[in-house]
Amino acid sequence: METILKDILDAACIREYIHTCEMGWQQGWHERNGGNLTYRMTGEEVAQCRPFFSEERPWVKMGVTAQHLAGEFFITTGSGKFFSNVARRPRESIGIVQINEAGDGYRIVWGLEKGGKPTSEFESHFMNHAVRVQATDGACRVIYHAHPANLIALTYVLPLTDRDLTRALWKSATECPVVFPHGVGVVPWMVPGGPQIAMATSELMKEYEAAVWAHHGLFVSGPDFDITFGLMHTLEKAAQICVLALSCGQGIRQTITDDNLRAIAHDFGVTINEKFLD
Ligand code: 13P
Ligand code: ZN
Repeated sequence: METILKDILDAACIREYIHTCEMGWQQGWHERNGGNLTYRMTGEEVAQCRPFFSEERPWVKMGVTAQHLAGEFFITTGSGKFFSNVARRPRESIGIVQINEAGDGYRIVWGLEKGGKPTSEFESHFMNHAVRVQATDGACRVIYHAHPANLIALTYVLPLTDRDLTRALWKSATECPVVFPHGVGVVPWMVPGGPQIAMATSELMKEYEAAVWAHHGLFVSGPDFDITFGLMHTLEKAAQICVLALSCGQGIRQTITDDNLRAIAHDFGVTINEKFLD
């Protein structure tokens, strides 16, 4: 049975959402307004939060379309809002948007008070949701964009290919191939905030749970906040180890071999993306 809420901020999905923003801030991945987070609400969560919705704000067209997300509700961070302020000023920093029947526009139904708008990367989030929902049989609910420093640093020194980034990360920490067995995609440097980078990113997200934006940051996806945040954390930790090892200045003396990667995947029961193995 549904609990009747006194305040929408008591909803479990909102509390978990705010907690995730807080954790990202604590990791140092969200300087200023850097990064954004979206969550596709379940029908039950929408029903629980609906008494707090208002339908007064106008529909806004996006530059992308996903018909199968028509009518969905997303929690989103606001454009220009700081992750460091989400917990103490949630009603201004985050909001809930409803997608229209054509799947090409939204309206704000809660939050983003005082004239706020959804993140400038909403189109990238929306298209990533669109492809990950299909790739995971409806399981994917969270898309998270952050600016973790070590991962960004690697995009200056490694060749910008899916293969090179994936192999470097897989070999930087033993559990990596278990956490992201499909690997990561790489979007070359592009101007952020719009349909073009949204299409380029979502093309990669058909195959991968994560896509790196060269010299900018990273998008990750997952079924819930813990798994999605954990993926970001694992990728950044692997990147940090890679940066530390390269920084020792003597080159890589020994590493995890391709057969080691196959052995981990086998024993942990995951199918590793063979196209990245020699
Ligand atoms: P927003 O403040 O619009 O979410 O933008 C932050 C960001 O990281 C852009 O890529
Ligand atoms: Zn960004």
